Amino acid sequence: MIVIYASRTGNVEAIAAQLDVETVDINTIAAAEEDFILMTYTDGAGDVPFEVESFLSDPANVQHMKGVIVSGDPMYGEENYCGAGDRLHETYGTEVLYRVENAGTEADIAAIRELVK
Ligand SMILES: Cc1cc2nc3c(=O)[nH]c(=O)nc-3n(C[C@H](O)[C@H](O)[C@H](O)COP(=O)(O)O)c2cc1C
Repeated sequence: MIVIYASRTGNVEAIAAQLDVETVDINTIAAAEEDFILMTYTDGAGDVPFEVESFLSDPANVQHMKGVIVSGDPMYGEENYCGAGDRLHETYGTEVLYRVENAGTEADIAAIRELVK
């Protein structure tokens, strides 16, 4: 399984760099040609980043999305923490596989590495 990731300030990108699978920056592709796990940050107040919304406006990309790993920061409030994952679940029914705080701990990275294997 490949990982397609969205990262604005580098946390998600840093996690992606520590995985043992192929990872692709969402800004560099228009269409997924195989199944993928989406790894994204949370924007606004529990919102899905624009570039993720844009990518998923193509139903073919949604079909290939097999799970979501979401990064957030608890300082945005319990309601909004990792809210992008909740929104994606509500909209597309995609399972939220893991919630990670910012760039994660070593334990988070190990768990995510296992998940995407
Ligand atoms: C403007 C802004 C809004 C954010 N809103 C939320 C939010 O609502 N919920 C949340 O859990 N994290 C929120 N975050 C935190 C980021 O999702 C988190 O730090 C993430 O790790 C950033 O990933 P990146 O460095 O790959 O872009 C926000 C960050 C910024 C800068």
